[in-house]
Amino acid sequence: MMAGIFREWVRRIVRVAGFEIRRVPNAGRYLKNMMYEADARYHELRARGLAMTGTPDGKTKSIEKQYNTIQFLRLVQSMDGCIAECGTFKGLGSFMFCHTLRDFDPSYDGRGFHIFDSFEGLSEPGLQDRIDDSRAGKPGEAFMGAGSFQAGIDHVRKALGEFPAIEYHKGWIPQCFKGLPELKYRFVHIDVDLYDPTRDSIEYFYPRLCEGGVIVCDDYAHLQWPGARKALDEYCDSKAIPVLCLTTGQGVIIKRGPLQ
Ligand SMILES: C[S@@+](CC[C@H](N)C(=O)[O-])C[C@H]1O[C@@H](n2cnc3c(N)ncnc32)[C@H](O)[C@@H]1O
Repeated sequence: MMAGIFREWVRRIVRVAGFEIRRVPNAGRYLKNMMYEADARYHELRARGLAMTGTPDGKTKSIEKQYNTIQFLRLVQSMDGCIAECGTFKGLGSFMFCHTLRDFDPSYDGRGFHIFDSFEGLSEPGLQDRIDDSRAGKPGEAFMGAGSFQAGIDHVRKALGEFPAIEYHKGWIPQCFKGLPELKYRFVHIDVDLYDPTRDSIEYFYPRLCEGGVIVCDDYAHLQWPGARKALDEYCDSKAIPVLCLTTGQGVIIKRGPLQ
C-alpha cells in the first residue's frame, strides 16, 4: 500500500519534470545476461589496463569491443607468428593483448609483439576521412584533427613495463615499416582511424599474415571514421577477401588459405 503511494508520487514528480516512468517487460534479461559481463578476469584486466595506461574509460574502447578483439586473439594463441598493433595511443589494447597471452603462457614477456605508432597522434586526415553521414558529425569535415590521441613512447613503455621484450617502432606509417625483417604475423590490430595509415597497414600486413591469422580493424564500422572502412574495403574487394562487420565497430579478416 505505502509502496504503491510512493511509486505514484515519484511518477508524478518525474512527469512534472517532463519525463515518464514506464515498466519495460524483461528489461533485465537484455541488460545483464551475457557471459562477458560476468567475466571477472576480463574486468579485472581492463580496470588494471585503464589505470596503468591512464586511458579514460570509454574514450577509445567499449567493454564489448575490447572483449571481442580479445576473442580473436585467443583464436590464434596456439599459432606461430608475431603480433602487431598499429596505433597504440596510451597502450591499453597492447596491455590487454599481452596479458591475455600471458594467461596462456606465464613466461610471456612481450616477445614477437610489435607496436607501430607515430607517438605524435593522428596524421593529417585526407579527403577520404571527411564524414559522409550526418549521423556521425558534420558532413564534409574530419571527425578529429592531426595530433589527436597523442601519447609519448616513454609513457607507453612504462605502462607496458611488465613486457620488456615488446618492440617499439616509432614513426609515421608506412615509413616505420621500412627496413623491418621479413616476419609472419598471426594477429594484427589496426587502430589508426584514418584512410592513409589503414590502407598502408593492410597493404603491409595482409601478405605477411599466416594462414588462419586474423586482422582486426578497430574503426571499420564507425561512421565517424569513413576512411578506415574505405581503405579496408578497397583492398579486400580487390582480392575478394570477406570482411566481417561487427556491431561493436570492428572489421575482421581471417586469412583462409595461401591463394587468398
Ligand atoms: C585511436 S588511437 C589507438 C588506440 C589504442 N589502440 C588503444 O587501445 O587505446 C590511434 C593511434 O594511431 C596513431 N596514428 C594515427 N595515424 C598514424 C600514422 N599515420 N602513423 C603512425 N601512427 C598513427 C596515433 O598516434 C594514435 O596512437
